[in-house]
Amino acid sequence: MEYITTRNGGSLPLIGLGTWQITDREKMLEVIRDAYEAGYRLIDTAAAYSNEIAISKAIENAGIPRSEIMLSDKVWNTSRGYNEVQEACRKSLKKLKTDYLDLYLIHWPASMKLYENWAEINAETWRGMEQLLADGLVKEIGVSNFKIHHLEELNKTAKVKPAVDQMEIHPGLYPKDIIDYCSENGICVEASSPLGNGQILSDKSLNEIAGTHNKTVAQICIRWILDKGVIAIPKSTSRSRIQENIDVFDFSLSSEETETIDNLPFCGGLGIDPDEVVSFG
Ligand code: A2P
Repeated sequence: MEYITTRNGGSLPLIGLGTWQITDREKMLEVIRDAYEAGYRLIDTAAAYSNEIAISKAIENAGIPRSEIMLSDKVWNTSRGYNEVQEACRKSLKKLKTDYLDLYLIHWPASMKLYENWAEINAETWRGMEQLLADGLVKEIGVSNFKIHHLEELNKTAKVKPAVDQMEIHPGLYPKDIIDYCSENGICVEASSPLGNGQILSDKSLNEIAGTHNKTVAQICIRWILDKGVIAIPKSTSRSRIQENIDVFDFSLSSEETETIDNLPFCGGLGIDPDEVVSFG
């Protein structure tokens, strides 16, 4: 596994395991055992995924030492605020049966459609995140689904800058402006739903490119993401696909292929604009 260095000198694997929609405990044990054996060292979860206990049990039952894996978690929207985020983190730590998180993220910025004072809300939550860092409960702090204006607002009051911004990225959904901004500002980008929730895998152009390389479309998607300097967090419940998604270090895309993928129109995935959120903000 290759690693990327964060602004604080920490390191993150280029590929992590997504766990959204895996809640069954037996399945989680299989998935985490398979992923660990395949070489995954980063497990990505969120309070909203309702699987923190399943993950902690899986790690325990698989006999994986805590120090051998990195746990990344996210605070949900109902726990925004200085005190609230700290309380939420402590609850998550209990569920994960650990005394620290490797990475803790604000899951969504407060929606400007719902809150006039969205920037202030984010700033207060961030202050709580900084406190968690100072208290040693989390090793790195970051955000998720933050666009440039969210990051710039946060920057006005943040004492510690975000190490990471995680967002949906895959062929057909390429937020180049945010990736460039993050790269210029020392923020590592993580791609959630790098396969567009599996919905983009039948795309014709992607299949043609995959055929050329004797690789699968999933591998093309992940290679394209890594080439952007972005961490990919694919989710799979199948041993062979978990293995396949990490087997992307033995080929490269041509500049023509990269350009084709860069310009693909939206062809699947969630595609939620954080500024338009009204139902769960
Ligand atoms: P499964 O769990 O059955 O493997 P994303 O990470 O973008 O959210 O995509 C996850 C979806 O893509 C899941 O439905 C998962 O199904 C499917 N998936 C994951 N890896 C692969 C792969 N290598 N080939 C085909 N489908 C995959």
